[in-house]
Amino acid sequence: MKKRVLSGIRATGRLHLGNYLGAVKGMLELQNDPKYETLYMVADAHTITTPYDIKKLEKNRREVVLDYLAAGLDPKKSVIFFQSMVPEHFELFFYFASTSTVPRMLHLPTYKEKIKQHPKSVTMALLNYPVLMAADILIYKAEKVPVGIDQEPHLEVAREVARKMNKKYGTDFPEPTRFSTKGEYIPSLMGEGKMSKSVEGSYINLTDDLATIKRKLASAPTDSGKGKKVPTKGGVANLLKFVELFEGEGKRKEYEKQYSSKGIKYAELKDNLAKAIFKELKPIQEKRKELEKNPEYVEKVVKEGAEKAGKVAKKTLKEVKEKMGLL
Ligand code: ADP
Ligand code: TRP
Repeated sequence: MKKRVLSGIRATGRLHLGNYLGAVKGMLELQNDPKYETLYMVADAHTITTPYDIKKLEKNRREVVLDYLAAGLDPKKSVIFFQSMVPEHFELFFYFASTSTVPRMLHLPTYKEKIKQHPKSVTMALLNYPVLMAADILIYKAEKVPVGIDQEPHLEVAREVARKMNKKYGTDFPEPTRFSTKGEYIPSLMGEGKMSKSVEGSYINLTDDLATIKRKLASAPTDSGKGKKVPTKGGVANLLKFVELFEGEGKRKEYEKQYSSKGIKYAELKDNLAKAIFKELKPIQEKRKELEKNPEYVEKVVKEGAEKAGKVAKKTLKEVKEKMGLL
């Protein structure tokens, strides 16, 4: 029996390098490993846990699928769908909610961050975010979840739900673990925090052209380029992390040597880095342009994906309802 994998990204806009390196690269690796059966969704319902624009959501969930397909997710190998097309997730979520406590949810770092950003929208949907995520994963009995390190607290909740359900009702949910990549934490271009859609200037989109990448890197903070010790945090440390990811460890070491000798010329570093990033993104962008011409294809992919996912989801839901005395 193949092990199952489930992952998803919210439909809040086009994907950036953080999403790509932290989540999508792991999704690709597992998709191309015959030991796994992979299911990848757009978490469109999770998108409504914070204030959103209806028109944008409609557009963005398609944008995420385009980015998925352009980056190499292959409907012949992976089941690709919109979360809302498999409503069984929401029913299982409610049963899971009976095992999850309010104080536990109130303590999650992601919840605390979101209520700070949106103090007027502290909704039940937001509080329940991790419980729905547990249902997304466990409805497929998925064991591996390729996501960035910021999602670890949510996976802990999923494992707790699995344990509680198994103990109380005798279900056989696995305890899912995160599948991590080398890019599990991509820093912001601004020198502080992580690369994120919600922080302007922090990210490079998969669809950015060379000139845009150069412009964004140009605003990344640096220092004099010289010193006894190479910084381990802040703008310079982040730039070196990008050098390592896109130009290799050797290149990073070269710059580190320069730092303590003749000094780094940041204009040159940034120019080479921009080119290296663009080189990786170019084939993705070319594929995306082709896909954009064929919206019916995208519709077909998610419709067929949802049918396949729905079959598995219905089976799990039936088992759970039986064990819980609801069927
Ligand atoms: P954002 O913070 O930009 O809104 P999301 O929260 O929608 O991104 O994250 C989608 C996926 O991308 C998740 O799996 C998340 O862990 C991953 N991810 C987001 N930002 C980063 C980052 N800076 N480094 C690594 N992974 C990231
Ligand atoms: N919470 C994830 C994010 O912010 C999105 C998500 C929803 C997800 N359900 C999931 C990720 C299930 C993995 C598995 O990106």
